[in-house]
Amino acid sequence: MKEIRTVGVVGAGAMGRGIVQIAAQAGLTVLLYDTSADAVAAARESLRQTWDKLTQKGKLDAGAAQAALERVAPAAGLEALADCDLVIEAIVERLDVKRELFAKLEGIVGPDCILASNTSSLSITAIAAACQRPQRVAGYHFFNPVPLMRVVEVIDGLRSAPEAGDALAELARRMGHTPVRAKDMPGFIVNHAGRGMNIEGLRVAQEGVAPYAQIDAIMREQAGFRMGPFELLDLTALDVSHPVMESIYRQFYDEPRFRPSPITAVRLAGGLLGRKAGEGFYAYADGQKQQAAEPPAPPAQSGLKVWVSPRHPAGHARATELLARLGASLHNGADTPPADALIIVTPYGEDVSTAVYEQGLDAARTVALDTLHGLEPTRRRTLMVSPATQPQWRDAAHGLLAGDGAPVSVVQDSAGFVAQRVVASIVNVACDIAQQRIASPQDIDRAVTLGLGYPAGPLAMGDALGSARILEILHNLLRVTGDPRYRPSLWLQRRVQLGLSLLADDASR
Ligand code: NAI
Repeated sequence: MKEIRTVGVVGAGAMGRGIVQIAAQAGLTVLLYDTSADAVAAARESLRQTWDKLTQKGKLDAGAAQAALERVAPAAGLEALADCDLVIEAIVERLDVKRELFAKLEGIVGPDCILASNTSSLSITAIAAACQRPQRVAGYHFFNPVPLMRVVEVIDGLRSAPEAGDALAELARRMGHTPVRAKDMPGFIVNHAGRGMNIEGLRVAQEGVAPYAQIDAIMREQAGFRMGPFELLDLTALDVSHPVMESIYRQFYDEPRFRPSPITAVRLAGGLLGRKAGEGFYAYADGQKQQAAEPPAPPAQSGLKVWVSPRHPAGHARATELLARLGASLHNGADTPPADALIIVTPYGEDVSTAVYEQGLDAARTVALDTLHGLEPTRRRTLMVSPATQPQWRDAAHGLLAGDGAPVSVVQDSAGFVAQRVVASIVNVACDIAQQRIASPQDIDRAVTLGLGYPAGPLAMGDALGSARILEILHNLLRVTGDPRYRPSLWLQRRVQLGLSLLADDASR
């Protein structure tokens, strides 16, 4: 494939503009076409302003900004794209309109010109099917805002020539972006991997485990994510994310892992779209999320006796170490709890009720502590109660665990607390993307880190938390709930059985 020097961009909306910006900054000649000439003029004006701002901030030199602007030319019609080496389409998200455009473009451009689509939800193979030479068609899925989201999914349709994707990947690097390579499957990598957080977060809320703000706080302050599921849904807005949830579920033929929630359907119908509507899972005033302060923790009780169940040695060790630091009166020598002690269990993927039932504990005095992510004072702690836990024992546990100033969330009974089940779902979905060979394990982690801003790639996250532990959480979630959404991916199961990293591809493939 020859080097790409001249790029046509069709569609001068939010995405088209961003693509034009990075292409022109990388020294490419760009021709911009839109059915609306006003949109092209507005795009050029907005690019001029962007480059002015970058110059003022000292991020771009004035000469380079002027040169970039001069490299962008409006195209009066599609015919003007005849000499392009690549045409990137960023028009309305409709298969019929994209197909018609690609068929027209084929009659205009030269035989070596690559045709790329920025679609986020349509099949590249389906778009290419209307072309005489589908080999030249590939997906080039950028994220909004393009200049800041420095990752692009390069998607090979069933008939795409690998060289077309190779050329797009190479161009992405020239434009300062990280290319990740994906097969043409619903959601590609990022929108597929993103199901774990959103769908499981909604499931937790639907079970009445905790209010939205608590779930978000746990995902941020305990599990280390930048945003929780409801903050994220408010940012993308439900008119965008609810249809995506439904569409990916349907496209995978009702895969239970992606089963959407009626919560978002009802809220969408009610216009509670999110930040842009001023109201979503949170209320917003002047674009700022409104949130009531958390009430203070109950006071710590002196002389409180505590017994920690030895059932899960790792959790037991973490919990007893913390409790000793907090100066609790531990009664751990006994196999069974003393009659007047607070009982703490540290399950993985189980709820308090199951722990009480299986270990024959006194339900009134039993609470659970999530130890998976560690119990440092800077990290939020999750304390969980069963339907039978008495409020005085809940408050005693809360006061004790907040003794070093760590924030504590008290949640209702849930197999896998909040963080365990959401993180296990994220890892499981990523494992299944790897199992389906939609992308390499490394590209899955790169795409998710850059595209979703997670603190680590989901496969590396699974390794760091312990893949055997993630598998245990999923097995228990499946056992307690009976819901097939928690069945572990074969990728995860086999790597745990064989002692391999989740990032390890098959040795003999
Ligand atoms: P937009 O609505 O801001 O802009 C689309 C532009 O395409 C409009 O200026 C419209 O006049 C023009 N257009 C429509 N039909 C056309 C045609 N037949 N020929 C030429 N121009 C035409 O849309 P946006 O947000 O820029 O999205 C464009 C594409 O990028 C869609 O396929 C979308 O799914 C995809 N995408 C959007 C993302 C986003 O966050 N907005 C993220 C990733 C992909």
